[in-house]
Amino acid sequence: MARKVIAVVTGSNRGIGAGIVAALAQTKHPKGALVIYATSRAGQKQEIPTQYDNEVRFAKLDISDKPGIKDFLRLIVKEDRAEGGGGNGVEILINNAGINLNRDETYESAEKTIDVNYRGVRDMCQLFLDAGNMKDNSSARIVNVSSTGSKLGIHGKALQERFRSVQTVQDVDALADEYLKLYKEQKLGDSDFGSGNISYQVSKACVNALTNVLAKEYQETGLLINCCCPGWVDTDMGKIVGQPSKSVEHGARIPVRLAIEDIDGVTGEYWSNDGVNDSGHGKVQRW
Ligand SMILES: NC(=O)c1ccc[n+]([C@@H]2O[C@H](COP(=O)([O-])OP(=O)(O)OC[C@H]3O[C@@H](n4cnc5c(N)ncnc54)[C@H](OP(=O)(O)O)[C@@H]3O)[C@@H](O)[C@H]2O)c1
Repeated sequence: MARKVIAVVTGSNRGIGAGIVAALAQTKHPKGALVIYATSRAGQKQEIPTQYDNEVRFAKLDISDKPGIKDFLRLIVKEDRAEGGGGNGVEILINNAGINLNRDETYESAEKTIDVNYRGVRDMCQLFLDAGNMKDNSSARIVNVSSTGSKLGIHGKALQERFRSVQTVQDVDALADEYLKLYKEQKLGDSDFGSGNISYQVSKACVNALTNVLAKEYQETGLLINCCCPGWVDTDMGKIVGQPSKSVEHGARIPVRLAIEDIDGVTGEYWSNDGVNDSGHGKVQRW
């Protein structure tokens, strides 16, 4: 039986996630036909043209629901075994789902933003590495969709240094927790985080730091974990700050490259184009 290669994309019912699934469905993976789990909170089906025997399956997945992530992983493993896949695990995980509630931010929406954008991505990575067997697959790839908003220049120097020197996932958790504590106590203005509606930015800086920590932790396995900014893309989220120039097809380019193409073994890095309107395939950048 031909080898099936499992890929999972979150938040794929609309926006960049839909663009990523459409692009993967048309991509020839060197190891075999792709089984792409196009996941979303509602799990609704869509018509997606495929090539190279690739297949798209639709599934429900809310990344802020940890038991739900475990159920989803059990489903994948069960389907893989039932189809003679040998339980090789997930080859590609693209953590695309995200929210931006900066516009009318409150403490509650700040907490939700950290919960979905950071803690949800953290739980996805950790559970997929472990129960999803990604840690045992030397060619596995994780791509965390971050944002140019993650750039640390908006924060004080000492905090920038803390983000850059995290050693463990607990260190990243501590940064996220400290941000929310200061927010609740209305002390952000006196801190290195700074004031303003920046929960989206903080959540994405945590994603980059998490990517860096996990890449170091799993360096010896050979699997590659990177994060990226897709650019300013014409989606519901992109439109919050005006009319973006990039299509979802172009927005999918960097995540798909990091998931499939030869990237010279680079891991733990943040990738983007030079400008948010550029439609290239990205390069490693400082964040
Ligand atoms: N668009 C841009 O210009 C831009 C720029 C930089 C970075 N990004 C990043 O790119 C990614 C995709 O953004 P987008 O522009 O495509 O946004 P979007 O159009 O608002 O779509 C967001 C997607 O995330 C899903 N989602 C939200 N919360 C979720 C949860 N708890 N569990 C599972 N899925 C959830 C949404 O599902 P529902 O339909 O169920 O809400 C939707 O599918 C995000 O991580 C975003 O931060 C976007």
